Amino acid sequence: MRFSYVSTFGLLPLLLPITKALFPTNLVYEFPNGTWVENLAVRPCGSILLTIATSPDLYLIDPLSPSPEPVHLHHFDSASGLLGITETSPDTFHLIAANFTSTAVTPGSNHIFTVALETGSDTSHISLAATLPEALLLNGLTTLNPTTILAADSPKGVVWAINVVTGDSRIVLNDTLMAPTPALPTIGINGLKVDGSTLYFTNSAQALFAKIEINADGTAAGKAVVVARSPRGASFDDFALYRHKYAFLATGPGNSIYEVAEHGMPQAVVAGNVNSTEIAEPTSAQFGRTPVDNHVLYVTTAGRLSVPINGYEVVGGQLVAVDTRR
Ligand SMILES: *[C@@H]1O[C@H](CO)[C@@H](O)[C@H](O)[C@H]1NC(C)=O
Ligand SMILES: *[C@@H]1O[C@H](CO)[C@@H](O)[C@H](O)[C@H]1NC(C)=O
Ligand SMILES: *[C@@H]1O[C@H](CO)[C@@H](O)[C@H](O)[C@H]1NC(C)=O
Ligand SMILES: *[C@@H]1O[C@H](CO)[C@@H](O)[C@H](O)[C@H]1NC(C)=O
Repeated sequence: MRFSYVSTFGLLPLLLPITKALFPTNLVYEFPNGTWVENLAVRPCGSILLTIATSPDLYLIDPLSPSPEPVHLHHFDSASGLLGITETSPDTFHLIAANFTSTAVTPGSNHIFTVALETGSDTSHISLAATLPEALLLNGLTTLNPTTILAADSPKGVVWAINVVTGDSRIVLNDTLMAPTPALPTIGINGLKVDGSTLYFTNSAQALFAKIEINADGTAAGKAVVVARSPRGASFDDFALYRHKYAFLATGPGNSIYEVAEHGMPQAVVAGNVNSTEIAEPTSAQFGRTPVDNHVLYVTTAGRLSVPINGYEVVGGQLVAVDTRR
């Protein structure tokens, strides 16, 4: 979730991207104008759960169907929109529902819901897993272990550990690289993913991708270090990790996917273009999970709601498939 982009443009455009052949993209589905698709999670069968930020709606779509059509799974009455989503055991997901607009957050409105899907069907069972009265706005979500998820609190600049069985929560990480900035106070740490004992995360306000070593309970085992800085005009949002070696990052207003290899180098825009609606304001990315699409990076987009492309082009939020075969 990104808010105001304007002041990001002047921030730290330190590393110039290398030019690489761009991966081909394919539109899977486009929602109506004004729909911001915020995040996604891929089911073991390959269907994709999509969270919407501009309304509290959860959809399911099969990207491998000849003409993919989303199924509306649930409307979360208690919230204005949905954010991060993560799986803790096969077909059991958790998501963030909260009240927020593009300029304001509602402290105390953050809830975690459990979405349990029946394997082989679209039937879902939805229950409240936790409320976080002290959180400001939870954004990215990832799985630490089968009972604990980690949530990025973007305005607070911290990570919460949430036990999805007991509903207990506490702040486990608070590093200066997670903090927002005075210019962008609502959007510090954004996306996050656990890989072994390393937590990777983006910070949109500080325009960086970073990592920190963590203990089994999610607390810090060191200081966070910068892996990469976002290129000019872009701002990292959520991302996917691939084979413990590559990160594919959604660049928001960069309208592209940015690849960062281990240790930060090399790095480049690998799909999309700042001046095109091919990947219009990407918000998050995940790889397919079936043998036929495990090379496909599925990307959600906001449809360039914040700053129209070329000053006028707006499209509905989309699900886009990026073929990453080289
Ligand atoms: C959040 O929004 C919902 C739907 O508009 C509303 O019913 C609820 O009272 C709001 N909660 C808070 C804490 O503002
Ligand atoms: C995070 O750490 C900073 C610096 O120690 C501290 O000022 C701030 O209160 C902490 N934030 C939270 C939410 O604990
Ligand atoms: C995008 O458009 C601007 C203004 O026309 C141009 O300077 C820039 O080179 C373009 N960028 C790309 C990647 O095409
Ligand atoms: C979406 O909005 C843009 C900008 O307002 C407009 O040009 C376009 O025609 C709209 N598309 C649809 C399908 O309504």
